[in-house]
Amino acid sequence: MKILVTGGAGFIGSAVVRLAVARGHEVVNLDALTYAANLANVAQVTNSSLYAFEQADLRDRPALDRVLAAHRPDAIMHLAAESHVDRSIDGPGTFVETNVNGTFNLLEAARAYWLREGRPEGFRFHHISTDEVFGTLGATGQFTEDTPYAPNSPYSATKAASDHLVRAWHETYGLPVVLTNCSNNYGPFHFPEKLVPVVILNALHGKPIPVYGQGLNVRDWLYVEDHADALLTVLQRGQVGRSYNIGGENEARNIDLVQTICAILDDLRPEAAPHDHLITYVADRPGHDLRYAIDPTRIREELGWRPSVTLEEGLRRTVEWYLRNEDWWRPLLARQGVGQRLGTKVDPVPESAE
Ligand SMILES: NC(=O)c1ccc[n+]([C@@H]2O[C@H](COP(=O)([O-])OP(=O)(O)OC[C@H]3O[C@@H](n4cnc5c(N)ncnc54)[C@H](O)[C@@H]3O)[C@@H](O)[C@H]2O)c1
Repeated sequence: MKILVTGGAGFIGSAVVRLAVARGHEVVNLDALTYAANLANVAQVTNSSLYAFEQADLRDRPALDRVLAAHRPDAIMHLAAESHVDRSIDGPGTFVETNVNGTFNLLEAARAYWLREGRPEGFRFHHISTDEVFGTLGATGQFTEDTPYAPNSPYSATKAASDHLVRAWHETYGLPVVLTNCSNNYGPFHFPEKLVPVVILNALHGKPIPVYGQGLNVRDWLYVEDHADALLTVLQRGQVGRSYNIGGENEARNIDLVQTICAILDDLRPEAAPHDHLITYVADRPGHDLRYAIDPTRIREELGWRPSVTLEEGLRRTVEWYLRNEDWWRPLLARQGVGQRLGTKVDPVPESAE
């Protein structure tokens, strides 16, 4: 199968690109190369005859038309997005432009392409989304595919909007879509502004490890390579028009996750132990959702998929990867905003229209 992957230079998209090429699929990686991108993430497939790269922006509709006409993919896996909640609090405009308008452009480009090709039955538009669209849970319960949408951050609101567009393009125009909503990912190649790499890298540098609020927020952690495997499963065997929740079956409070990473580092770098004395509680994120948890029944029962990596094992692999790959993460620390506390201000003065 020839797959157009958007956002293939990002964290999850690059895991999809690497796995799809390893399984013999042709892959076209479309990415605008924003601050979050890194072509080093796909270095292991760059020389493969199965791989092609197109630098293009979702906001540029003619560019999307050109890439589709040039490569004629059998499927689109849409991962490109602005993805960092804290950045969405400081600057929501880019999130609307890329996640909402960009997804609209891609849907229209895909629809035009699909019609030109004679509505091939096997064509798929796979939209990759997040469990954050469902809002927050209390101490119990899980998100199912039927949970009402209740996004709380600018990021999750724009992802929710894009999910609705994708659903409507199926219902109205018959575009063959599948959707997935996934829990928090972690693993190799994770950009160093997200929680797990921040903890690892701050601990390695002997810097304070920031934990929002009291660290009681609960997330359902999924190893990124398991996510990539689940995405290819849904792409190939998911029912058209249906959405699937993907979870790690690994719920943990943030503070427990951080403690586990510190314990792994104590083991691997005993000379710097204990690492958990670096934990520092900082003011909570505005609108911070308390708990996310995925009910994975549908993907498990319909498609026979479940995660293969436990949180303890996945975190160990991740910490070891960061210890071995300083050449990968060191240059990223200099990128704009990395290492700063973002998303703390909810000023009444929004971004200028200029
Ligand atoms: N990270 C998670 O835990 C998680 C969980 C569930 C779902 N998701 C979803 O998975 C997808 C990928 O997330 P990620 O963590 O890999 O994100 P990421 O920020 O690491 O990568 C996003 C990629 O999209 C590209 N991009 C951004 N704007 C673009 C534009 N206008 N045009 C073209 N390319 C553009 C960037 O250059 C980057 O390579 C997103 O849609 C996100 O909402 C993420």
